[in-house]
Amino acid sequence: MSTMNYWAREWELQEDICPCDVHFNQWIADRGLRDKTIYHFGTGSHHVVGREQAINGSNNAVFAITASIEEYQAYIELVAENSRINKNYVVYFGDIYLTNAKLLPEFDVVTMFHLREFFHPNTSSEEYGGITDRGVLDVFTARTRSAGYILFYTGSLGFARATPIIAEWEQANPVERIGEFKTLRIYRKR
Ligand SMILES: C[S@@+](CC[C@H](N)C(=O)[O-])C[C@H]1O[C@@H](n2cnc3c(N)ncnc32)[C@H](O)[C@@H]1O
Repeated sequence: MSTMNYWAREWELQEDICPCDVHFNQWIADRGLRDKTIYHFGTGSHHVVGREQAINGSNNAVFAITASIEEYQAYIELVAENSRINKNYVVYFGDIYLTNAKLLPEFDVVTMFHLREFFHPNTSSEEYGGITDRGVLDVFTARTRSAGYILFYTGSLGFARATPIIAEWEQANPVERIGEFKTLRIYRKR
Protein backbone atom coordinates (compact mmCIF):
# COMPACT_ATOMS: atom_id res chain seq x y z
CA MET A 1 0.00 0.00 0.00
CA SER A 2 1.26 3.51 -0.80
CA THR A 3 2.02 6.03 1.90
CA MET A 4 0.14 9.33 1.77
CA ASN A 5 1.82 12.18 -0.10
CA TYR A 6 1.96 14.38 2.96
CA TRP A 7 3.70 17.74 2.97
CA ALA A 8 6.95 17.37 4.95
CA ARG A 9 6.96 21.08 5.84
CA GLU A 10 4.91 23.63 7.67
CA TRP A 11 3.97 27.17 6.71
CA GLU A 12 4.00 30.13 9.07
CA LEU A 13 2.11 33.25 8.03
CA GLN A 14 4.24 35.19 5.51
CA GLU A 15 1.94 37.89 4.23
CA ASP A 16 4.58 39.41 1.95
CA ILE A 17 5.20 36.09 0.13
CA CYS A 18 1.81 34.41 0.38
CA PRO A 19 -1.03 36.80 1.33
CA CYS A 20 -3.94 34.64 0.10
CA ASP A 21 -5.34 33.69 3.50
CA VAL A 22 -5.23 37.27 4.76
CA HIS A 23 -6.85 38.49 1.53
CA PHE A 24 -9.50 35.80 1.91
CA ASN A 25 -10.46 37.02 5.39
CA GLN A 26 -10.57 40.58 4.03
CA TRP A 27 -12.78 39.50 1.10
CA ILE A 28 -15.22 37.77 3.49
CA ALA A 29 -15.42 40.95 5.56
CA ASP A 30 -15.76 43.12 2.44
CA ARG A 31 -18.69 41.00 1.23
CA GLY A 32 -20.18 40.87 4.69
CA LEU A 33 -20.52 37.09 4.50
CA ARG A 34 -22.14 35.56 7.59
CA ASP A 35 -23.38 32.11 8.61
CA LYS A 36 -21.51 30.52 5.67
CA THR A 37 -19.94 27.09 5.38
CA ILE A 38 -16.42 27.42 4.00
CA TYR A 39 -13.95 24.86 2.66
CA HIS A 40 -10.33 26.00 2.84
CA PHE A 41 -7.46 24.32 0.97
CA GLY A 42 -4.21 24.70 2.95
CA THR A 43 -4.39 25.93 6.54
CA GLY A 44 -0.77 26.84 7.28
CA SER A 45 0.33 26.38 10.89
CA HIS A 46 -0.98 29.89 11.58
CA HIS A 47 -4.61 28.82 10.91
CA VAL A 48 -5.46 32.45 10.25
CA VAL A 49 -8.63 31.75 8.24
CA GLY A 50 -10.27 29.38 10.72
CA ARG A 51 -9.10 31.38 13.71
CA GLU A 52 -10.43 34.70 12.36
CA GLN A 53 -13.77 33.34 11.16
CA ALA A 54 -14.34 31.57 14.49
CA ILE A 55 -13.87 34.69 16.60
CA ASN A 56 -15.06 37.60 14.42
CA GLY A 57 -18.76 37.22 15.19
CA SER A 58 -19.67 36.18 11.61
CA ASN A 59 -20.72 32.67 12.64
CA ASN A 60 -18.96 31.40 9.53
CA ALA A 61 -17.83 27.77 9.85
CA VAL A 62 -14.60 26.62 8.26
CA PHE A 63 -13.70 23.06 7.28
CA ALA A 64 -10.09 22.90 6.13
CA ILE A 65 -7.40 20.53 4.96
CA THR A 66 -3.73 20.33 5.78
CA ALA A 67 -1.24 17.76 4.48
CA SER A 68 1.36 18.81 7.05
CA ILE A 69 1.80 16.88 10.31
CA GLU A 70 3.14 20.02 12.04
CA GLU A 71 0.21 22.17 10.85
CA TYR A 72 -2.23 19.56 12.08
CA GLN A 73 -0.45 19.40 15.43
CA ALA A 74 -0.73 23.19 15.67
CA TYR A 75 -4.49 22.87 15.06
CA ILE A 76 -4.85 20.30 17.85
CA GLU A 77 -3.04 22.59 20.27
CA LEU A 78 -5.12 25.59 19.13
CA VAL A 79 -8.52 23.99 19.65
CA ALA A 80 -7.50 22.10 22.78
CA GLU A 81 -7.14 25.52 24.36
CA ASN A 82 -10.13 27.26 22.77
CA SER A 83 -13.61 25.77 22.61
CA ARG A 84 -15.05 28.59 20.47
CA ILE A 85 -12.50 27.99 17.76
CA ASN A 86 -13.12 24.25 17.98
CA LYS A 87 -16.84 24.80 17.37
CA ASN A 88 -16.48 26.81 14.15
CA TYR A 89 -13.19 25.50 12.76
CA VAL A 90 -12.51 21.86 11.92
CA VAL A 91 -9.28 20.76 10.24
CA TYR A 92 -8.52 17.34 8.87
CA PHE A 93 -5.20 15.85 7.87
CA GLY A 94 -5.20 14.51 4.32
CA ASP A 95 -4.20 14.78 0.68
CA ILE A 96 -6.75 16.79 -1.27
CA TYR A 97 -6.15 14.51 -4.26
CA LEU A 98 -7.63 11.65 -2.20
CA THR A 99 -10.88 13.56 -1.66
CA ASN A 100 -13.94 11.34 -1.36
CA ALA A 101 -17.09 13.28 -2.27
CA LYS A 102 -19.18 11.02 -0.04
CA LEU A 103 -17.50 12.55 2.97
CA LEU A 104 -18.08 16.19 2.02
CA PRO A 105 -21.01 18.40 3.04
CA GLU A 106 -22.15 21.31 0.85
CA PHE A 107 -20.28 24.59 1.00
CA ASP A 108 -21.14 28.24 0.37
CA VAL A 109 -17.52 29.16 -0.28
CA VAL A 110 -14.58 27.03 -1.45
CA THR A 111 -10.93 28.06 -1.72
CA MET A 112 -8.77 26.30 -4.29
CA PHE A 113 -5.71 28.42 -3.51
CA HIS A 114 -3.07 25.74 -4.00
CA LEU A 115 -4.46 23.94 -7.03
CA ARG A 116 -1.73 22.30 -9.14
CA GLU A 117 0.92 22.86 -6.45
CA PHE A 118 1.02 19.39 -4.88
CA PHE A 119 0.22 16.89 -7.63
CA HIS A 120 2.86 14.12 -7.42
CA PRO A 121 3.95 11.74 -10.22
CA ASN A 122 2.05 8.91 -8.50
CA THR A 123 -1.01 10.92 -7.43
CA SER A 124 -3.47 9.64 -10.02
CA SER A 125 -1.96 6.15 -10.29
CA GLU A 126 -4.27 3.23 -9.61
CA GLU A 127 -2.21 2.19 -6.61
CA TYR A 128 -2.27 5.60 -4.94
CA GLY A 129 -5.92 6.21 -5.80
CA GLY A 130 -5.83 9.98 -6.25
CA ILE A 131 -7.63 12.25 -8.68
CA THR A 132 -6.32 15.02 -10.92
CA ASP A 133 -6.43 18.75 -10.25
CA ARG A 134 -9.40 18.99 -12.57
CA GLY A 135 -11.00 16.16 -10.61
CA VAL A 136 -10.48 18.08 -7.36
CA LEU A 137 -12.05 21.15 -8.89
CA ASP A 138 -15.04 19.20 -10.20
CA VAL A 139 -15.69 17.47 -6.87
CA PHE A 140 -15.64 20.73 -4.93
CA THR A 141 -17.72 22.53 -7.55
CA ALA A 142 -20.35 19.82 -7.22
CA ARG A 143 -20.31 20.32 -3.44
CA THR A 144 -20.69 24.12 -3.78
CA ARG A 145 -24.22 25.44 -3.34
CA SER A 146 -25.92 27.50 -6.04
CA ALA A 147 -24.80 31.12 -5.77
CA GLY A 148 -21.78 29.92 -3.79
CA TYR A 149 -18.25 31.11 -4.44
CA ILE A 150 -15.08 29.35 -5.64
CA LEU A 151 -11.84 31.27 -5.23
CA PHE A 152 -8.34 30.91 -6.69
CA TYR A 153 -5.07 32.53 -5.65
CA THR A 154 -3.38 34.21 -8.61
CA GLY A 155 -0.03 34.31 -6.77
CA SER A 156 0.11 30.55 -6.24
CA LEU A 157 3.22 28.72 -7.43
CA GLY A 158 0.85 26.48 -9.38
CA PHE A 159 -1.33 29.21 -10.85
CA ALA A 160 0.29 29.24 -14.32
CA ARG A 161 -0.16 25.47 -14.57
CA ALA A 162 -3.68 25.70 -13.15
CA THR A 163 -4.79 28.41 -15.60
CA PRO A 164 -5.65 26.07 -18.54
CA ILE A 165 -7.38 23.69 -16.13
CA ILE A 166 -9.47 26.56 -14.76
CA ALA A 167 -10.29 27.70 -18.33
CA GLU A 168 -11.61 24.24 -19.28
CA TRP A 169 -13.46 23.90 -15.97
CA GLU A 170 -15.11 27.29 -16.50
CA GLN A 171 -16.49 26.14 -19.87
CA ALA A 172 -17.81 22.83 -18.55
CA ASN A 173 -19.40 23.94 -15.26
CA PRO A 174 -22.23 26.29 -14.25
CA VAL A 175 -19.84 28.94 -12.97
CA GLU A 176 -19.05 32.53 -13.88
CA ARG A 177 -16.06 34.68 -13.13
CA ILE A 178 -17.31 37.64 -11.12
CA GLY A 179 -14.11 39.51 -10.39
CA GLU A 180 -10.89 39.83 -8.47
CA PHE A 181 -10.09 40.87 -4.91
CA LYS A 182 -6.42 41.74 -4.41
CA THR A 183 -4.61 38.45 -5.24
CA LEU A 184 -7.80 36.37 -5.45
CA ARG A 185 -9.90 35.46 -8.49
CA ILE A 186 -13.54 34.82 -7.72
CA TYR A 187 -16.13 32.64 -9.45
CA ARG A 188 -19.78 32.20 -8.58
CA LYS A 189 -21.82 29.07 -9.13
CA ARG A 190 -25.06 29.69 -11.01
C1 LIG B 1 2.49 27.25 1.12
S1 LIG B 1 1.38 26.61 2.33
C2 LIG B 1 0.16 27.91 2.37
C3 LIG B 1 -0.70 27.92 3.60
C4 LIG B 1 -1.71 29.06 3.68
N1 LIG B 1 -2.78 28.89 2.71
C5 LIG B 1 -1.03 30.39 3.49
O1 LIG B 1 -1.12 30.94 2.37
O2 LIG B 1 -0.39 30.90 4.41
C6 LIG B 1 0.56 25.29 1.44
C7 LIG B 1 -0.55 24.61 2.19
O3 LIG B 1 -1.07 23.52 1.42
C8 LIG B 1 -1.17 22.35 2.22
N2 LIG B 1 -0.97 21.17 1.35
C9 LIG B 1 0.17 20.74 0.78
N3 LIG B 1 -0.05 19.62 0.08
C10 LIG B 1 -1.36 19.33 0.21
C11 LIG B 1 -2.19 18.28 -0.26
N4 LIG B 1 -1.71 17.31 -1.04
N5 LIG B 1 -3.48 18.27 0.10
C12 LIG B 1 -3.97 19.26 0.91
N6 LIG B 1 -3.25 20.28 1.38
C13 LIG B 1 -1.95 20.32 1.04
C14 LIG B 1 -0.09 22.51 3.26
O4 LIG B 1 -0.37 21.71 4.39
C15 LIG B 1 -0.15 24.01 3.51
O5 LIG B 1 -1.12 24.31 4.49
